[in-house]
Amino acid sequence: MSVALAPAPAPAPAEAADATWWEPPQGELVRRALARRLNVLLVGPTGCGKTTLLERALAELDGAPPAALNLHGDLSVDELFGARELRGGETVFRPGPALQAMLDRAPLVLHELDAATPEVLFCLQRVLERKDVVVPAVAGPDGRPLRLDPWRGRDGAASRFVVAATANTLGRGDGGGLYRGTRVLNEAFLDRFDLVVRLDYPPPRAEAALLVARAGVDADDAAAIVRVAGLARRAAAAERLLATTFSVRKALAWATARAHLGLDLGAAFVATCLDRAPDEDRVVLAELYQRATGRR
Ligand SMILES: Nc1ncnc2c1ncn2[C@@H]1O[C@H](COP(=O)(O)OP(=O)(O)O)[C@@H](O)[C@H]1O
Ligand SMILES: [Mg+2]
Repeated sequence: MSVALAPAPAPAPAEAADATWWEPPQGELVRRALARRLNVLLVGPTGCGKTTLLERALAELDGAPPAALNLHGDLSVDELFGARELRGGETVFRPGPALQAMLDRAPLVLHELDAATPEVLFCLQRVLERKDVVVPAVAGPDGRPLRLDPWRGRDGAASRFVVAATANTLGRGDGGGLYRGTRVLNEAFLDRFDLVVRLDYPPPRAEAALLVARAGVDADDAAAIVRVAGLARRAAAAERLLATTFSVRKALAWATARAHLGLDLGAAFVATCLDRAPDEDRVVLAELYQRATGRR
């Protein structure tokens, strides 16, 4: 795979301009559900647009801006809901993002839900219910633990509280390497979501069009990248690829390297896809590249 220098640097690709977004058919349903404050869980493979869809849908809602955070295995209940801390010699309670969203009656957005610990999920379960929540660490106006109902607005204003989440695995966890660190979401927890919406990668034509629009590759290169992406996704589903799949993110990185770093298609593939893959997947990936492009 040879490296050729581009004659002049092209302008950097614009992130998320409107023409570069392919709206999945489920998008309208998600928008309507969030506007009616139904808890929504988006499930789908990495880099298929879950986070972007939620951001776009939530941006259309009025009221306080959403509190969004990425969950992970080291995130504690205190970090999520709040904890006492020493400030100027005094112990004060600092609310975490989940409690702040409830206090603000703003949407709470939880990315990578299936990476959270069981303790965190247990606390979130109550939050998903349309009931009031008791916060033991904070005193309410009556001196007793604060009781708040985030689903009911204050001062005559409607509450905008709702929980929206994304996950890769719909609670199956992952035995292989693809979604390492994800956990099983139990049925009782999943039940608290009014809607579970499955998303998948854009169809090939749409994906190619967004590579052209976002990264500035030509149509032939875009088509080749999408062919490799399709083969790799199928290989991952068949467990021929063990720890790799092919997100739109990765396709964009490849296309961007091709268009903006002066690399030919093969060198850009090596730099953005092949070199990051674990050893056990590199041979298969290289073979898929050859099959899809006829090049080595
Ligand atoms: N349907 C799509 N249309 C346009 N861009 C997309 C689409 N899906 C994913 N992308 C792009 O791929 C990247 C990853 O998307 P993201 O929403 O973070 O995926 P996820 O949350 O599913 O992992 C972003 O740059 C995003 O703009
Ligand atoms: Mg995401």
